[in-house]
Amino acid sequence: MELQLSTIVFLFLSTTVLLAATTTGQQTSDDIDTEFIRQSCESTRYPDTCFASLSNYSSAVQHDSGRLARIAIHVSLSNATHMANYVSNISRDAADKNNNITRESAAISDCSSLFEDAVDEIKKSRTEMKRLGLTGESVKFQLSNVQTWMSAALTNEDTCTDGFQKVDDGNMKADVCDRVAAVKRVTSNALALVNSYAR
Ligand SMILES: *[C@@H]1O[C@H](CO)[C@@H](O)[C@H](O)[C@H]1NC(C)=O
Ligand SMILES: *[C@@H]1O[C@H](CO)[C@@H](O)[C@H](O)[C@H]1NC(C)=O
Ligand SMILES: *[C@@H]1O[C@H](CO)[C@@H](O)[C@H](O)[C@H]1NC(C)=O
Ligand SMILES: *[C@@H]1O[C@H](CO)[C@@H](O)[C@H](O)[C@H]1NC(C)=O
Repeated sequence: MELQLSTIVFLFLSTTVLLAATTTGQQTSDDIDTEFIRQSCESTRYPDTCFASLSNYSSAVQHDSGRLARIAIHVSLSNATHMANYVSNISRDAADKNNNITRESAAISDCSSLFEDAVDEIKKSRTEMKRLGLTGESVKFQLSNVQTWMSAALTNEDTCTDGFQKVDDGNMKADVCDRVAAVKRVTSNALALVNSYAR
């Protein structure tokens, strides 16, 4: 009876220790995964934005800089798509309000087309990243395509901001330019992570 009790106590204790060890093990591997993302983000221009936007994907990234680059492009695509929809909406509203063309409404309409193009370029990049090594072309060549398209997307975003230079300061200009600046950080980081992977 005494033996049985101590066996039960032993089993209980070892189960507890095992569970604790398993939990700690998971936390540690999660920490290592996010640490990999933190370190990779150091090579980008906006490391804080990089970590904040990608750390949730640590279990999918593992320690693979190719996967990280692919996920960064995915995040950048959804970010730019949201912005394209936003600019398209305010462009439509601006066109409804004044049927004359002001510098502001012209800048917004240009920005809307530029973001549509940026979204197309990021989409092409996403597709290329999915078929790395599967097309018969060299991975190096495919990555250089992605670098070209992501740079073009970034240039389009820059050009949107440039279009507001001659627009008088106002809420609309400030709002759009702030949002574009935030999107550019995400796009720039995705490009930097592709560059690191291509190196
Ligand atoms: C990351 O996950 C947390 C918890 O699920 C969520 O609150 C947060 O918005 C997510 N962040 C991003 C950038 O997706
Ligand atoms: C754009 O407008 C549509 C329809 O009014 C709305 O459903 C959508 O949420 C808007 N998108 C953005 C990003 O503001
Ligand atoms: C254009 O529209 C704005 C806003 O409705 C108005 O203030 C302005 O007078 C208009 N300009 C011309 C040239 O019609
Ligand atoms: C994406 O873009 C918006 C601008 O519309 C920005 O405010 C937001 O924080 C960006 N970042 C991410 C990770 O979605």
